[in-house]
Amino acid sequence: MRKLLVSGVIALAALGAGAVAIAAESVVHPPHRHWHFQGPFGTYDRAAAQRGFQVYKEVCAACHSLSLLSYRNLMEIGLSEDQVKAIAAEVQVPDLSEDGSPIERPGRLSDRFKKPFPNELAAAAANGGKAPPDLSLMVKAREGGPDYLFGILTGYVPFEKLTPEQIKEFSVTKDDNFNLYFPGHKIAMPAPLSDGKVTYIEGGPKATLDQMASDVTEFLAWASEPHLEARNRTGIRVVLFLLAFAGLMYAVKRQVWADKH
Ligand code: HEC
Repeated sequence: MRKLLVSGVIALAALGAGAVAIAAESVVHPPHRHWHFQGPFGTYDRAAAQRGFQVYKEVCAACHSLSLLSYRNLMEIGLSEDQVKAIAAEVQVPDLSEDGSPIERPGRLSDRFKKPFPNELAAAAANGGKAPPDLSLMVKAREGGPDYLFGILTGYVPFEKLTPEQIKEFSVTKDDNFNLYFPGHKIAMPAPLSDGKVTYIEGGPKATLDQMASDVTEFLAWASEPHLEARNRTGIRVVLFLLAFAGLMYAVKRQVWADKH
């Protein structure tokens, strides 16, 4: 009996500790948004993904690598071969000359996206001790996926707008970046986007914070799952086939059993 009581108390204590740990993490879920690529008929909005690439290239690429993509992959979001060749050629990539000495040459279609830092240590050193993570699989890697990414990009609260309780609870100082949706709220990344940060081509939408955040999310969602559309198409074909097959089987069954009634 005593043993039982003791283990009961231990179990309760463990539960309590778990609850405290969750409270300390203080996870706030970002609101759900509608994304073009969700659901069984989902496709990527090419224009949005292209604008999102512009945002990545002009803003995020200064800190974040996108190491699973090659320049030629950009043709999948509707850029022409010549456009992509020009984009690659703007970048100087490290290579070896014929005699083996290190050189830099303009990028080609087959090159992977260039990394902003030579390695993780250098990346951390340049960013106050926290290395910016690779964004290739980011939309799949975090709970909430695209909603979370959009939330992080739009969820910064300036120090002056924080309540005294928030400042005290999370011990925020003027030098911290407070983000509503980042676990623990203090994030090493300064707010990367603000209205008008990039200039979209004429005829495009206005480059507001929400618009850019939504576009770069579309682009990074494509980067993390480029074969989603093909998979959706296969899925729809399989369902249609199964429906037709079920109908056929039913007709056969009726035929076979017709004179048994
Ligand atoms: C000045 C450098 C810098 C720029 C520019 C920048 N980031 Fe970051 N980013 C960071 C750092 C540093 C971290 C690590 C934050 C941490 O762990 O506290 C980070 C983390 C992230 C995370 C991960 C959050 C998590 O849950 O771990 C995402 C997503 C992200 N950045 C997206 C972006 C996007 C999209 C852009 C472009 C619009 C961008 N960043 C621009 C430095 C940068």
